[in-house]
Amino acid sequence: MAELERTFVMVKPDGVQRGLVGEIISRFERRGLKIAAMKMLVVSDELAKQHYAEHASKPFFPGLVGFIKSGPVVAMVVEGKNVVPLVRSMLGATNPANSNPGTIRGDFALDTGRNVIHASDSPESAKREISLYFNTSEIATYSRIDEQWLY
Ligand code: TYD
Ligand code: MG
Repeated sequence: MAELERTFVMVKPDGVQRGLVGEIISRFERRGLKIAAMKMLVVSDELAKQHYAEHASKPFFPGLVGFIKSGPVVAMVVEGKNVVPLVRSMLGATNPANSNPGTIRGDFALDTGRNVIHASDSPESAKREISLYFNTSEIATYSRIDEQWLY
């Protein structure tokens, strides 16, 4: 069995409001990735600032925090081989103007400030972000029934 890494994925408020949650989850499932945890929540001011701490000094930070808090999000832990870069490639570029068609942002978004989805950019970020949003007891351990055909 392959070593499965974890990443943190979040459908942002625009993705929830636009009814894209099912489409997005479906893309991960069809790719063969495992959903290990999932919940809907409204992000608090404190959590939003912790999540995006690396951008605290950027001019877009207040708008970003305000946007992330503006409605429910769907947070997930996704597992798979090499999952951090794989999921980033499925998202497409940060600015949807540069996201390839076939990527989530390239198919569903137009503007950097409304780019539908977040995913961790490194295994270290994934670990940090997963622990911000989930307790270990909320993360399921199981095998997909098709795992032996995926790896
Ligand atoms: P960043 O971590 O650079 O992008 P990514 O989400 O692809 O990891 O930025 C975090 C979010 O901040 C990004 O998804 C959208 C927002 N943002 C802006 O609103 N304006 C900007 O100029 C940038 C770079 C990001
Ligand atoms: Mg980022």
